[in-house]
Amino acid sequence: MIANARRLDGKQQSTIRAMTERCVAVGGINLGQGLSRTPPPASLLDTGAAHFKTADHSYSLAQGDPALRKAIARKLTAYNGIDIDPDDGIVATIGASGAYNAVLLAYLNPGDGILLPEPFYGYHRAAAELYGVMPEPIGLTAPEFRLTKQALEASASERTRAIVLCTPNNPSGRRLTADEITAVAQFAEERDLLVITDEIYEYIYYTPGRHLSPAAFTPLTHRTITISGLSKTYSIPGWRIGYAAGPGHLIQPVRTAADILSVCAPTPLQQLAVDALELPEAFYTGMRDQYRTQRDRVASAFRSAGLEPNHPEGAYYLLIDCSSLRVQDGFEAAEAILTTAGVATIPGEAFHHNKPPYTYVRACFAVSQEDISRTEKQLATADFSTLMGTGATI
Ligand SMILES: Cc1ncc(COP(=O)(O)O)c(C=O)c1O
Repeated sequence: MIANARRLDGKQQSTIRAMTERCVAVGGINLGQGLSRTPPPASLLDTGAAHFKTADHSYSLAQGDPALRKAIARKLTAYNGIDIDPDDGIVATIGASGAYNAVLLAYLNPGDGILLPEPFYGYHRAAAELYGVMPEPIGLTAPEFRLTKQALEASASERTRAIVLCTPNNPSGRRLTADEITAVAQFAEERDLLVITDEIYEYIYYTPGRHLSPAAFTPLTHRTITISGLSKTYSIPGWRIGYAAGPGHLIQPVRTAADILSVCAPTPLQQLAVDALELPEAFYTGMRDQYRTQRDRVASAFRSAGLEPNHPEGAYYLLIDCSSLRVQDGFEAAEAILTTAGVATIPGEAFHHNKPPYTYVRACFAVSQEDISRTEKQLATADFSTLMGTGATI
């Protein structure tokens, strides 16, 4: 028998994919996968269709199409407050995932430690482990999951080389505050750490105040690589356009790693993506309004069924507190919600290295209008009374 490499052991099927399969088997509504069902902006598809024939269909430079890098640099200055040289400070990649992989390959050796504040996006851990990098989870206190210098100190070790931030966070929706970023800056300076910040949900938030990019904080600028992409903001995850950005000296090895990994991001789609970055402000406010409405509808559907959701500041997920259900863990909670209400969610365990601080599941509300209406109906008639125990809620 030809065995798979050991690095894949335990990685064949993620919790999210397993839940999707269970959902299909029972004909449920899938709020599990973080897959937006929002249609892409119509104008983007129209201009894309017009430009596709004349686009370049060859390889682009490894660092990406010059027009795309210029558009990203303009956006980084105007929106994120970060000055980046489009020539040597940006690499266009196969999604934000491609950027994260290239950064790991460029900077982390097997056996190095990488700090992951919990809850984290499972891919951040899985990809690190693939390269032999040791996850160092930072257990934060629910429900706020506030990142402090003490928490950083408690989780770091002699191996620690980098920290991964994610703001707004998948799954908690938390937006990092200036105080939290300052704590990271002090700690990263003391330990000489690389800061990797995944800001793929940067335009999706519901609380006042502009998006804060860690790299815009001067003490962090020289040691931070900002990762983002177009998948979430413009609902085009299949285009696979993302990027890593930072000071030229940090980006050069990332460019080499991305080149070896995948040569370049899809050239014609890089060129079409420039139009997305030039959409007017009204697009972003409209998108936020739509997701806010969806968040509130799905949240009240769970609440009326006796399950308390959090109130996310950003991204498009709800954490549903299941401490009131007589279940052992998030896996049992997700199964109970699927069998009782026909709604698939993801166990909280998918976002923690160790046991989550309370029993919860994650529900994605960037689903179709039809699925939102079905979720409301099915949760309104679901009877959780036999499952309700005496467990304390947080
Ligand atoms: C935090 C985070 N980063 C990255 C990604 C994937 O981004 P991309 O499609 O650009 O690879 C996701 C998708 O769910 C995500 O939640």
